[in-house]
Amino acid sequence: MKQSVKLIAGNWKMNGLCASLTEAEALRAELEKGPATCRVVLCPPATLIDRMGVALRGSSVEVGGQDCRAERCGAYTGDISADMLKDAGAAWVIVGHSERRQGYGETDAVVAAKATAALEAGLAPIVCVGETLAEREAGRAVEVVRGQVLNSLPLAAGGREFAVAYEPVWAIGTGLTPTLEQIEEVHRAVRAAMIERLGLAAATAPILYGGSVKPDNARDILAVPEVGGALVGGASLKAADFLTIVRAA
Ligand code: G3P
Repeated sequence: MKQSVKLIAGNWKMNGLCASLTEAEALRAELEKGPATCRVVLCPPATLIDRMGVALRGSSVEVGGQDCRAERCGAYTGDISADMLKDAGAAWVIVGHSERRQGYGETDAVVAAKATAALEAGLAPIVCVGETLAEREAGRAVEVVRGQVLNSLPLAAGGREFAVAYEPVWAIGTGLTPTLEQIEEVHRAVRAAMIERLGLAAATAPILYGGSVKPDNARDILAVPEVGGALVGGASLKAADFLTIVRAA
C-alpha cells in the first residue's frame, strides 16, 4: 500500500514537568536548522499541552493528549475531555494505549467511544492496539490485533484524520522488539482490518509501530512495508534521541 509522509509521535506518559519543555524547545531549534521530512507530534502530560504549544510555536510540531474521556463533559472528577484537550491546543489524542487498557480495564468499546469523542471534538485519534506476550506465544497476535482494530475503530473515523498504533504490550519499555517480519505481518493485518472496517477511506491512514523504538533501530523499523511512522515512549523524552528518530523517517 503506497503511503504518504510518515508520522512520528512521542508519548511522554507521566514524565515531565515544566522544566522538561526545554527538550521541546531544543527539538524546535534543531528542526529550524533542517525541517523534518515527516509529521511530528508530541504528547506531553495534559498539564503541559498549553505551554508546549507555546514552546513549539512557529514550528511544524503538533501537540497531542495521551487519553480522553468518552463523555464530552460532566461529573467525572479528575478526567479530561477531548474538547478540553482541543481547547488547550492539542490536535491529536492517543486512545486505547495498553497502559489504559490494562491499568483501567478499558475495552474495545470504550476505546471506540473515546475515539469518537475525539473526532467530534476535532482531534485526530491515535488508536492503539497490541497483543500481550502470552497471546503472541500462543500464536494469536494477528487474531488479537485484528479484533482490536475492528472493534476499537469507530465508523466515524472514515474519511477523517486518524492513525492506528501497533504496540505489542511485551515490547513497551522493555528494550524488546518483534522481528521486522513480525512487524510487517501484523501491520499488513492491521491495514486489512482497517479497510474491512472503514473501506478504502482507511487505505492511507498511517499505522505506527510502537514499543522500544530507539535511535538505533528506528531506521530499520520505519523501512518495513506498511509502517507509516512510530509511537515513541522513552526515547521521546530527550530531544536528541527523538530527533534521531525523526530524521530516520
Ligand atoms: O506509546 C509509546 C509506548 O508505549 C512505547 O514506549 O518506551 O517502549 O518506546 P517505549
